[in-house]
Amino acid sequence: MNVNVINVDYNGLIPNNVDLNADSRVKAALEKWHPGYINWWNDMGPEGFQQSLVYLRTAYSVDPRGWAKFDYVRMPDYRWGILLAPAEENRKIPFGQHYGEKAWQEVPGEYRAMLRRLVVIQGDTEPASVEQQRHLGKTAPSLYDMRNLFQVNVEEGRHLWAMVYILQKYFGADGREEAEELLRRRSGSADAPRMLGAFNEKTPDWLSFFMFTYFTDRDGKMQLHSLAQSGFDPLSRTCRFMLTEEAHHMFVGETGISRTVQRTCEAMKAAGIEDPNDVERVRALGVIDLPTIQKKLNLHYSLTLDLFGSELSTNAANAYNAGLKGRFHETQIADDHRLNNSTYPVLKLVDGKIRQVDEPALPALNMRLRDDYTEDCAKGLLRWNKIIATAGYDFRLRLPHVAFHRQIGEFKDVHATSAGELIDDATWRKRKNEWLPSQQDGDFIGTLMRTEFDPGKFAGWIAPPKVGIDNKPGDFEYVKIET
Ligand SMILES: [Fe+2]
Ligand SMILES: [Fe+2]
Repeated sequence: MNVNVINVDYNGLIPNNVDLNADSRVKAALEKWHPGYINWWNDMGPEGFQQSLVYLRTAYSVDPRGWAKFDYVRMPDYRWGILLAPAEENRKIPFGQHYGEKAWQEVPGEYRAMLRRLVVIQGDTEPASVEQQRHLGKTAPSLYDMRNLFQVNVEEGRHLWAMVYILQKYFGADGREEAEELLRRRSGSADAPRMLGAFNEKTPDWLSFFMFTYFTDRDGKMQLHSLAQSGFDPLSRTCRFMLTEEAHHMFVGETGISRTVQRTCEAMKAAGIEDPNDVERVRALGVIDLPTIQKKLNLHYSLTLDLFGSELSTNAANAYNAGLKGRFHETQIADDHRLNNSTYPVLKLVDGKIRQVDEPALPALNMRLRDDYTEDCAKGLLRWNKIIATAGYDFRLRLPHVAFHRQIGEFKDVHATSAGELIDDATWRKRKNEWLPSQQDGDFIGTLMRTEFDPGKFAGWIAPPKVGIDNKPGDFEYVKIET
């Protein structure tokens, strides 16, 4: 690996390791975009805490051995930079019909529209999640959690910069227009919504936030991994660095759910409750019962599965053929990396039954990525279930069936139980609150959502973390609240 582009230039308005000073056109375009971004951040970023000092990490290098430094910063002053992972010398396109050719440093003309669309869709998710999470600071269960929320938010902001750089540098006037549109759309807006469904949903409480960072940021991970394989080298490099940051987002989700589950189990034990399904008694303890945690999991997992698109997709096949978007861990797969003669097993609805059918592998690439995703999700469940088992409770959190609660793909027109049994409309309407959070479930969780601003203190529904951020002690003041 070539490691000469490791330090970031922090002198200009836009920190970067892409030598912006030598590229006056792109530098000017980005500087022109900057005020609109800051306006967007002030309007749509974390509400109520913009003037607070937050203990945040900022990337100062792209060296995997030490790339971030921590310090107090007011979020609008965060240094959002453009950081590409170091170039790999002589990198080759690792899949598709250009397999083995030299990776592109410029956009191939014939793939321009397809590539632009991929970049815009990825870019659109980044500000969307900031918008979805903007009210959560006000109900943070601790300063530690509040800091983690804001860290995720500023980094999603940086991911927007990463995609906007690609648009501004490689897509001329079209790219500039798309960059403006990325600041114009709003999560949940009726006339200018974000592009993908899950990014227009609400994140009403902290359990949703943890589920979102565990499940939906993990979709981001899978998409970034596929784009990191891209034959278009600048996209590959920018996605590789984004993945470094993304790991923390999923850590926040996994440990957030772990701590919620742990606190619930501790409270049930202390109160002598033997049946974790005794929802009323558990809720009276001021903790979130395990069945409700399962329902939240069902909701966020199923919404996220929709982000993978239809099981069979010519767009996915075209993007792969073109060498633009590869598979998860493409370079580690032992096959021909062209897939013209391969098949892949796809779950389909055949004569009213869910069947596994072998389909040509190219159009089935969304399904494959979704399977890789599901496998990746399972690790968290093992950890959460271990906490429950260790506490002595006979209750297991499970991923719902892929046919459950879907709006996109093979199962969008049918209803299924969380176990994957097909049911009719009437049964679905009658029973759906067994599997998805109801209004009352949401209201109950809402009653627990209150701020805890004392350093080292935690709201009663969640256990403290095992270790602090940046090895700070338990009572560290991660956010200095302005009063
Ligand atoms: Fe992101
Ligand atoms: Fe993320």
